[in-house]
Amino acid sequence: MPSPAKSLGCVLRPMVEADVPKHAAMLKRSFNAWYRKHGLDQDFFQCADGELAIFWEIYRHISPGHCVVAADADSGELLGACFYHPREHHVSLGIMAVDPSCFGRGVGGKLVKHIVDFTESHGYAALRLVGSAGNMESFSLYNRAGFVPRAVHQDMMLAVPADGMRQSVPLGERVRTAVVKDIAGIQALELEISGICRAEDYRFCIDNRVGCLHASVIEDAKGNITGFAASIKHTVLNMIGPAFARTEAEMLALLMRELDRFRAVSALMVVPMESRHIVESLYRWGAINVETHLLQVRGKYQPIAGVNLPSFLPESG
Ligand SMILES: CC(C)(COP(=O)(O)OP(=O)(O)OC[C@H]1O[C@@H](n2cnc3c(N)ncnc32)[C@H](O)[C@@H]1OP(=O)(O)O)[C@@H](O)C(=O)NCCC(=O)NCCS
Repeated sequence: MPSPAKSLGCVLRPMVEADVPKHAAMLKRSFNAWYRKHGLDQDFFQCADGELAIFWEIYRHISPGHCVVAADADSGELLGACFYHPREHHVSLGIMAVDPSCFGRGVGGKLVKHIVDFTESHGYAALRLVGSAGNMESFSLYNRAGFVPRAVHQDMMLAVPADGMRQSVPLGERVRTAVVKDIAGIQALELEISGICRAEDYRFCIDNRVGCLHASVIEDAKGNITGFAASIKHTVLNMIGPAFARTEAEMLALLMRELDRFRAVSALMVVPMESRHIVESLYRWGAINVETHLLQVRGKYQPIAGVNLPSFLPESG
């Protein structure tokens, strides 16, 4: 329990449109301060504050009303915030940030408790998140709240040549851009592989209403969907995921297709450490490791039956 002297008086409420500029600036301050404190010699978020409104821009569509902010009980100043994502069978805890001026004063704990209470009071079997394995503040915050690490990932960054990837992989001819009529098949596949699904998220990636998303599927010889990969190309984040497939070969074919969007820039992939074929292929293509992340689940967990690459935006798995 936090000591009364340490704990900060704050009230929790849903985030509203008027909070967006302050929230974006706080997100940037929070992550930049944490990474600087832990040895990064440059800013983690190097974009302008306003660019970080992309989180709100996406989540106001796919998780409306589900960002909780902690505001100072006296001044109303925004002290912290966390998005969360109720889906068909689970809730996902998304990007969490506390203003660096109040790190370690119980704000993060209050935000997590709010989301745990929501999950339990609405009868969801599981609350999930993907959190840094090296960030002891966030690991401890979630671990103390009952989250159990279930899968380990290495975050691999690959610089894509200006003229595209030069390597070829098997099964590439089975990959195509996803369309709305694929949603039922994608949903059934994720349920089989991970025990969760999120139809509106796939639709959002396919529709690409925000202009920075894309999604591909891979099919077997009978036309059944055996893999899905979305990606985001934005000043804030160039990343492939969420992505899931029955086999590593299918996932590699999907990654190769999505990587083509990132010519002349780098793309991040959060790869399960056990997926050695993918890891070794990415090393051969020039990828480097930049961080490690844990899939953490509070409640029911079905081991991954296939390959699953989480994403940080949209972060709903
Ligand atoms: C991670 C973060 C949200 C934590 O928020 P916070 O308000 O500082 O967290 P709290 O003060 O509520 O404390 C977290 C808990 O972890 C505990 N804790 C912290 N470090 C610990 C450690 N090394 N071992 C054990 N427990 C630890 C604290 O004691 C506290 O538990 P308590 O309330 O039961 O005493 C905040 O540091 C932050 O915004 N960091 C930058 C952004 C970020 O990292 N986001 C998460 C990305 S995965």
